[in-house]
Amino acid sequence: MAPRGSSRTLTPGQIARMIADAIMIQFALLSAIAVRFLWFVAFERVPLNVDVGAQLRHDLTTYLESAWPLTIICLSVFYLSGFYTYGRAYQGKYKALIVFQAVTQSYLIFAFLSYFGRGSLSISRTALVLAWLFSVALLVASRLWSQLWHRMVHREREALRVQPSGEGRHVLVIGGAGYIGSALLPKLLDRGYHVRVLDLLVYGTDPIAHVIDHPNLEVVQGDFRHVDKVVESMHGIDSVVHLGAIVGDPACDLNEDLTVEVNLTATRMIAQVAKGWGAKRFVFASTCSVYGAGDEVLDERSQLNPVSLYGRTKLVAEKVLRRLADDTFSPTIVRFATIYGLSGRTRFDLVVNLLAAKAKTEGKITVFGGEQWRPFVHVDDAAHAVQMILDAPREVVGNQVFNVGSDEQNYKIREIGELVSQYVPTAELIVSDEATDLRNYRVSFAKIRHVLDFHPQWTVEQGIQQVLEAIASGQVKDYRDAIYSNVKFLREAAGDRLTPTKDDLVKELALESARHTTG
Ligand SMILES: NC(=O)c1ccc[n+]([C@@H]2O[C@H](COP(=O)([O-])OP(=O)(O)OC[C@H]3O[C@@H](n4cnc5c(N)ncnc54)[C@H](O)[C@@H]3O)[C@@H](O)[C@H]2O)c1
Repeated sequence: MAPRGSSRTLTPGQIARMIADAIMIQFALLSAIAVRFLWFVAFERVPLNVDVGAQLRHDLTTYLESAWPLTIICLSVFYLSGFYTYGRAYQGKYKALIVFQAVTQSYLIFAFLSYFGRGSLSISRTALVLAWLFSVALLVASRLWSQLWHRMVHREREALRVQPSGEGRHVLVIGGAGYIGSALLPKLLDRGYHVRVLDLLVYGTDPIAHVIDHPNLEVVQGDFRHVDKVVESMHGIDSVVHLGAIVGDPACDLNEDLTVEVNLTATRMIAQVAKGWGAKRFVFASTCSVYGAGDEVLDERSQLNPVSLYGRTKLVAEKVLRRLADDTFSPTIVRFATIYGLSGRTRFDLVVNLLAAKAKTEGKITVFGGEQWRPFVHVDDAAHAVQMILDAPREVVGNQVFNVGSDEQNYKIREIGELVSQYVPTAELIVSDEATDLRNYRVSFAKIRHVLDFHPQWTVEQGIQQVLEAIASGQVKDYRDAIYSNVKFLREAAGDRLTPTKDDLVKELALESARHTTG
């Protein structure tokens, strides 16, 4: 498999790892030459009658000649083996073996090139073998140490976490029968949470069929714009996860009133009810779309600049929540990257899934614009992030904003097209100049990584493969079906289940006034 992100710029973290490896390679080589030199001084100098100063100069020259070519070869092979881009093999449990293999390949290439380039090796064979051994030892040990360190830190954080038996045990998941919700429910139930879902079930119960009979799950079908439904659902609840929304720019643009009502007015009312009820946690699903367009890498403190109604409703909802926050009510805002992969209610109106499905079904991958940056995260990882937030102590996550994703999964849209075409080489990649989507943002996920030790388990390549397999196996019959697209569903199949109500009172008032003036 080609390395992930082979055509991409490296992040500072990746560059730091490359520098660390370069230092280790050079150190290994220098140590090997030094050991070889000491051996020479101790055992070979007298019988061979060679001058120590001349030998030292020779060894130093050898080091200077070999160090950079060897380092460059090693870093190239490591890169291609996925060391810095977290290729799949490298992520597996045989990491030590992959490191051993890559170091050995690098030394063989170096020996081959020096031998055929110069007619002889610039470095003695003993020193080369020693340098290889030292490199393997150092690189494997550094990886094992880093793994051990992560595990120790992780264990400490786990110990700090409130277990599901404590505060926050009863969770209300609003909009829990959608794309992210259907991936979140099994995670919460597995961790012993008692879960209630409030959802209009516009996509039916199929998305949650895999958990619907779970004894700790209760499903309330209802519209979260209705305060009575929200109050009824809040009974006995100590944590709220609010995922419900009209999601995506095209779906939101269909009806502005409806979008404002669902995404903004209802969110304010739900938060007020949760606060009044005394819910300890309130996790609100926002989006990286609030960043809109920007050239630098954006983090949670960056200026927000949404370029769509969808983004604007999320931005104002965030503000409303911040205004409601106090000592007792401490919402957590999660700004998800664009999601990919399969869940109980897979969506094919999102770029990775859509391009993979189009490539497989129609033999075409059409990318609009292509130069826009966008961060991505698998639906399962997004759900895991929410679960981690619920698990974490309130002092750590309350009144905080977290971008959810990973630095490594910031891609240009064109790169997503290229990745898909690696898996469906028969598909034609078409890059169209018309960029309909103005969003362009590259996001830092350092905060969630540092605070919660959150590391996505999925890569975009794995997501593409997952989608392709679902189509090949018939699990997804027709990705164009309205059930897989928010905008299509709202336009064609939602009927009167999701229509604006806001105007009813205004209309009634207008009618009443008209009656009085004419009467
Ligand atoms: N999917 C993404 O790429 C993505 C990215 C960033 C943020 N988000 C955010 O994550 C959240 C979940 O997104 P998703 O992709 O799972 O969306 P989705 O459309 O699949 O799910 C939304 C759920 O909300 C329910 N719902 C909508 N209006 C309702 C109402 N008035 N009353 C009751 N239920 C209602 C729907 O039935 C559906 O089950 C959203 O808030 C979205 O803005 C999603």
